[in-house]
Amino acid sequence: MTDLKILNVVGCRPNFVKIAPLMAEMKKRPGITPVLAHTGQHYDTVMSDVFFRDLELPEPNIYLNIGSGSHARQMALMCQAFEGLLLDVNPDLVLVVGDVNSTVSASLTAIKLGFPVAHVEAGLRSFDREMPEEINRVVTDAVADLLFATERSAVRNLLREGIPREKIFFVGNVMIDTLMMNAPKIAHSNALDRFGLVPKSYALVTLHRPSNVDDKQALVQIAEALEELQGHTKIVFPVHPRTVARLEHFGIWERLTQLPNIKVIEPLGYIDFTKLMRESLMVLTDSGGIQEESTALGIPCLTVRKNTERPVTITHGTNRLVGNDKKKIVAEGLKIIDGMLIPRRTPEKWDGMAAKRVIDILVKNAEKIKQLHRSVRKRDIWQGISSAA
Ligand code: UD1
Repeated sequence: MTDLKILNVVGCRPNFVKIAPLMAEMKKRPGITPVLAHTGQHYDTVMSDVFFRDLELPEPNIYLNIGSGSHARQMALMCQAFEGLLLDVNPDLVLVVGDVNSTVSASLTAIKLGFPVAHVEAGLRSFDREMPEEINRVVTDAVADLLFATERSAVRNLLREGIPREKIFFVGNVMIDTLMMNAPKIAHSNALDRFGLVPKSYALVTLHRPSNVDDKQALVQIAEALEELQGHTKIVFPVHPRTVARLEHFGIWERLTQLPNIKVIEPLGYIDFTKLMRESLMVLTDSGGIQEESTALGIPCLTVRKNTERPVTITHGTNRLVGNDKKKIVAEGLKIIDGMLIPRRTPEKWDGMAAKRVIDILVKNAEKIKQLHRSVRKRDIWQGISSAA
């Protein structure tokens, strides 16, 4: 059996949820040595630490402490830090998940040093280049050696972009693995009692996309829609730090938080959040992951975006796009409050086995992955250059 040292990279909330089942599966395999690196893109207790606890993730072996900043600065700092880290750890493979700045920075740095890259959640496309995540997805997939897809549309997108078929694997959704693995803990969460909530009597809201929260007009429309909807149902709104800052900056914070039927709370950990989602009447969100989790749970989801890179949540799931137009959000929200049901089928391979499929493929191809690993040669070249300078 070929041994594999795999450097797993995380940075943000959704990354933690995706890496958890992969790390758990790697630990079961004697030939695999997982190393966990956290960039520190999310660093607060509520944005990071609580996820490590909830998901029983091991302490990261490496913490890069990059923090917030403009995209260019954040990514430049990450690339620089990864360069040293990769040469130090010398993994056989770098595994990245999702579409955040940490994902693309690690992928670019790794591939330039000759380390093979595996991308879990490859091929999703919103076809909207205004989304920073879309750029991150396209770039990561262009350089990755192994591409693991959550849904068939992602496979088609990759083929259309000229990625060879043999690099693409349709494995299902690791986020749903996490949801299934944690079902007993989620059932036991006392979050409803803590917030005084009754099942199916409230809407759960999350917002953080720049297109919704950095644009005053959009944020005002959404806030007004929430104001109207809270006349019909209770709303629970765990607010992302970026959104708090923008609501305050645009002078909307006070009005929103004083509404009688809106409960504005701090971001929640994984277990409490999924508990609130599971028991809610509907979710209103601009998150990618929540579109998928609500589909798996059968909870109606109104997505405050014009597009989605996860079309299976619409064709099979409970997701509906409502954009950020007040009238549309209110009209669709009222339909659900009035009892409209959205029929649902479980998307293919969203069965709790995705991480196992990924690791089976890595183990089976371990020898090939090792052959792809050209870092030793590159490192020698680099050392030659620096000592000659
Ligand atoms: C990032 C990801 C996004 C993902 C989201 C999940 C990118 C381009 N975006 O967006 O795809 O859906 O995470 O939450 O990678 N902040 C804190 N504490 C933290 C982290 C951030 O207060 O622990 C604040 C900072 O003021 C920061 C702002 O939140 O400026 C935004 O953080 P940032 O990492 O830039 O991106 P997100 O909006 O969280």
